[in-house]
Amino acid sequence: MRRVGARNKQTRSVNFMKGTTAGKKKSYIVVLIPCVVIFFIFLLAQRPEAQAGTPVTNFVQHREQQEGVLGKTRAEANAQGTESGLAGRGKYRCAVVIDAGSTGSRVHAFKFEASGEELTLLDSTFKAIEPGLSSFASEPVQAGKSLVPLLDKAKAFVPDDIMQETTVELRATAGLRMLEPSEVQSILQEVHTVLASYPFKVLDDAVSVMDGADEGVFMWVTSNYYLGNIGKPAEMTASVIDLGGGSVQRAFALAEGQPTPDTLADDSLRTITAGGQAYKVYVHSYLGFGLKAARMNFLKPFDAVDEGHPCMTRGYEGRYHYVDENVSVKADENDGADVDKCIATIEREMNFEEDCGVEGQCSFDGVWSGGSGGGSERNYVSSYIVDIARDVGVIPRQSTQQAVLLDEFRGAADKVCGLEYAAIQQSYGHYLNNDTDLPFICMDVLYAYVLLKRGFQINGDKEFTLVKQFDYKGKKVEAAWSLGAAINTLGKHSVAEVLGQE
Ligand SMILES: *[C@@H]1O[C@H](CO)[C@@H](O)[C@H](O)[C@H]1NC(C)=O
Ligand SMILES: *[C@@H]1O[C@H](CO)[C@@H](O)[C@H](O)[C@H]1NC(C)=O
Repeated sequence: MRRVGARNKQTRSVNFMKGTTAGKKKSYIVVLIPCVVIFFIFLLAQRPEAQAGTPVTNFVQHREQQEGVLGKTRAEANAQGTESGLAGRGKYRCAVVIDAGSTGSRVHAFKFEASGEELTLLDSTFKAIEPGLSSFASEPVQAGKSLVPLLDKAKAFVPDDIMQETTVELRATAGLRMLEPSEVQSILQEVHTVLASYPFKVLDDAVSVMDGADEGVFMWVTSNYYLGNIGKPAEMTASVIDLGGGSVQRAFALAEGQPTPDTLADDSLRTITAGGQAYKVYVHSYLGFGLKAARMNFLKPFDAVDEGHPCMTRGYEGRYHYVDENVSVKADENDGADVDKCIATIEREMNFEEDCGVEGQCSFDGVWSGGSGGGSERNYVSSYIVDIARDVGVIPRQSTQQAVLLDEFRGAADKVCGLEYAAIQQSYGHYLNNDTDLPFICMDVLYAYVLLKRGFQINGDKEFTLVKQFDYKGKKVEAAWSLGAAINTLGKHSVAEVLGQE
């Protein structure tokens, strides 16, 4: 039986490569940096209130010319007397990042103050649309057009005088990774055309399908930046767990000197130098274990043998569609959902038995967990797990950041799984804002529970934090990988480079 995700990833990426070499058109599929271990080369300034009394110049490590370029640009700006307000080109820098996810596209635009060796986030804006680019597989022009409201929002945010040096990038995540390479190519081509019609700077690698590990490591940077942890010892940094539709990412800083297995994939370990610290960040993206993809894996075996599924509540019968597949789904006529059997089914599909080569340190599906210690203890859990928690009442609906215990998920599961489907329709009609998700409410809560408990070893009575938005400088900001991506781009490209003056 074919599983969604990891197993066919290999084939797909081989196809990408073939398509790329054979195609006459310029390719926009850039596999980002699997070989790079030293990752970002940039400067981050922490919010002042988090660092009372500490100088904020203790930031990064960068390429040699980096320092020079930023310095030079600033000096030029000064010489031209443009430093006041937003006019100083060396002083303010913006970056626009579009996150093209499997269920929707989101734009984030950031405004930083660039001062000497530091970048300080001043302001940001955000807008989201649905559906995602992958739902335009057969109409790439529409895919491109769908981004217009997002780009308009960004354009309104960026000051006119730095528009041309403001980079725009679009990173597609799991949804697009699962389409046919030719479809992906056409969509990205159209996207590129639309980006180029705006006054922003579109660099060569501006549009791509992003590696899941990059997504995870950018999320780590974003979260720790907003939490004020950059510069603190690894033990005090946050671990991130980000459940998307197609994949789930985990990233945290390893303890200093922690041994890593020889077999570890190159891109599972990144060195991030920021705030005077060199963090060794472990990251893994489990493709096929995002919420929507995982459902398909949990459902398929029961479709194949035409049996009632232990995660479906009594009285449900229907179909489940994910990307290009669909299966029939039904509840067990007599028993309805059974929490223990549902957990067993989920655990079976997560391949807990598969060895990762390091005894006692395997998460699931044959993957090294990163071990314990370091920054693995303070978990910040985002995306779908937060939506689920809100919608089944683990946390209040309007909550944007809240500490919880995993046992509360189990309690919620016991409640929803015991209901008839008709009762679920009555009480949880809003679940994930989409009728097509409602039938899977019991499965989803239990998947979140198993994933965190057995997958990422969070004990039932250990507190962790659900986060949709961070509170940063009195403003709510999205818990998303985009800030990390923006910082990475600004760190890699000086203003002069962006403007082609180098
Ligand atoms: C569901 O999948 C079958 C093949 O397994 C296909 O023939 C059918 O068109 C699909 N239906 C929908 C609505 O996608
Ligand atoms: C609901 O989900 C389906 C399938 O994932 C998607 O095609 C549809 O656009 C979604 N509808 C809304 C209103 O989000």
